[in-house]
Amino acid sequence: MKQEKIIVKLGKNSYSVSIGRGLMDNIGAYVKNILQGSTVAIITDDVVAPLYLERARASLKRSGLRVVTVALPDGEEQKSVETAKHICEELIKNNIDRTHSLMALGGGVIGDLTGFAASIYMRGIPFIQVPTTLLAQVDASIGGKTAVNLPSGKNLIGTFYQPKAVFIDVDVLDSLKGEVFAEGMSEIIKHGIIRDANYFGFLEENLKGILAGDKNLMIKMVAVSCRIKAEVVSEDEKESGLRAILNYGHTIAHAIESLSSYRSVLHGQAVSIGMAVAGRIAVLKGIFPEKELEKQNRLLRNAGLPVSQSKFSPEDIIRALKNDKKAKDGKIRFVLPVKIGRVIITDDVDDALISKAVDSVFI
Ligand SMILES: NC(=O)c1ccc[n+]([C@@H]2O[C@H](COP(=O)([O-])OP(=O)(O)OC[C@H]3O[C@@H](n4cnc5c(N)ncnc54)[C@H](O)[C@@H]3O)[C@@H](O)[C@H]2O)c1
Ligand SMILES: [Zn+2]
Repeated sequence: MKQEKIIVKLGKNSYSVSIGRGLMDNIGAYVKNILQGSTVAIITDDVVAPLYLERARASLKRSGLRVVTVALPDGEEQKSVETAKHICEELIKNNIDRTHSLMALGGGVIGDLTGFAASIYMRGIPFIQVPTTLLAQVDASIGGKTAVNLPSGKNLIGTFYQPKAVFIDVDVLDSLKGEVFAEGMSEIIKHGIIRDANYFGFLEENLKGILAGDKNLMIKMVAVSCRIKAEVVSEDEKESGLRAILNYGHTIAHAIESLSSYRSVLHGQAVSIGMAVAGRIAVLKGIFPEKELEKQNRLLRNAGLPVSQSKFSPEDIIRALKNDKKAKDGKIRFVLPVKIGRVIITDDVDDALISKAVDSVFI
């Protein structure tokens, strides 16, 4: 069985990310290897549970572990303080203590929520990520950002709390809906643009095979993306500098998401449009060749992602941008490409340039 392993280097908080096929049926043995406690509490949602819970549970039991399950409804609404409290109450009821562990089995919602609950339950208990969406595999499960939402905004409450390990089984991607798969592709293409031109070339060359479900290509792709995210996080765990490059496309994406109340536009789609705007700003600033922007946008389109939009007016987008919590002293911070494989972070972008770029994408 082909398998890849990436280490997220964070001193005593370092952990490994294992990527392969069929991991779900061997999860018990892996967990037994890295954790000491007798019990694992699996946190999952009601879409993932019928698909994979039984296999994970059976494997853990074969390794002699006691298994407790907390299954929640699926959906972003679950990322709330109330649900985190509900999880903690279920853990108490099932006699979970700090020698035991949590396992997040699901997409980014379950990952963020489980990480948050793990970081506050009895002042912190170990947890493991078993991400089941492409986005969670290459992005949300690595780096230790945990979060729940408030009615006033997304991810406003959270902690930095690293998992003990991440187990990625690419076989579970088979059951993902096409648009949910494409969301992950958006972050993957982003990884190529911010840090690795060779990887971008690999994606261009192999996109057809990836979309057709070639598992060897998927293992390679997920492994490179995890490596890129792991490197960036290792250099800057708490986002005081470099880690901000992961926000490429996200300045505009957050504006779109706040206008759509996080419902009608999926995150990956919003990021794709955001990269089209940021790329255009860079071209207008004269720091990024038009041809490179075309390459970026072509790959996004071929992956099933949007690079233009008619849903919101340019004026709405600019207004939402100015309200963003990340705007420092009224200045909007952008990650801009200078070539495929390298980006800069700057707040030196004229309003007129932003408007022009937004005008060209929001048609
Ligand atoms: N912590 C971070 O660094 C980070 C980074 C990026 C995104 N996020 C967060 O991740 C969340 C989005 O994650 P997501 O896109 O995985 O969404 P999600 O967790 O809502 O999953 C999307 C849908 O797919 C279903 N699903 C999951 N795995 C499946 C499978 N294998 N087969 C079929 N269906 C499956 C889920 O039940 C859900 O209905 C957001 O809340 C976002 O804020 C966090
Ligand atoms: Zn994102």
